[in-house]
Amino acid sequence: MVFTTLRFAKSLQLTLAVIKPDAVAHPLILEALHHKILENHFTIVQCRDLVWRREDSESFYAEHAGRFFYQRLVEFMSSGPMRAYILARENAVRGWRELMGPTRVFQARYTAPETIRGIYGLTDTRNTTHGSDSEESAAREIAFFFPEFSVKQWMEKEEPLFRAGCVVYDQQKQIHTLKEEFLP
Ligand code: RTP
Ligand code: MG
Repeated sequence: MVFTTLRFAKSLQLTLAVIKPDAVAHPLILEALHHKILENHFTIVQCRDLVWRREDSESFYAEHAGRFFYQRLVEFMSSGPMRAYILARENAVRGWRELMGPTRVFQARYTAPETIRGIYGLTDTRNTTHGSDSEESAAREIAFFFPEFSVKQWMEKEEPLFRAGCVVYDQQKQIHTLKEEFLP
């Protein structure tokens, strides 16, 4: 698999993408989603496999507390392994949400069948992926999943290098890293 070097004219935006437990449970779907990320010219800044405790799930989805789907959502999101990514691209927040498609699986299947949820979504809860809905949410959610990562520092130090294409895809780590000559 060969991916050409990515170069971007506009400044890059970061977003938080999560592959939910329904998709991580199927290795071939997980691989297809990883490939889709690369195919759509996202740069993978960080990638982490993890399992949530129930309280992590409740805290992350606190904005939905009291909604009719809240209990099943928090249970589902702490039911098994998931994978979180920090992705970089021009308009990454909007781009990833467009790629995911509508939240509701019926709508995704019929109005956006080529999207991730259109293809892999099982139910309105088990809908394959999560994506931040704004730059502010992205910063908050990146801090939730990657507390050691500084968005501010990445924007200052690494964004110009990532934008200029000074990165390689590391097949083993499955993320993009700065080419050796650009490492600090
Ligand atoms: P997400 O946050 O996961 O990226 O998805 P979203 O913005 O498209 O949807 P949101 O309204 O933020 O809802 C968060 C997650 O809650 C579950 N949900 N279930 N009718 C239902 O049963 C229902 N509605 C929402 C989904 O897993 C959704 O992704
Ligand atoms: Mg949301």
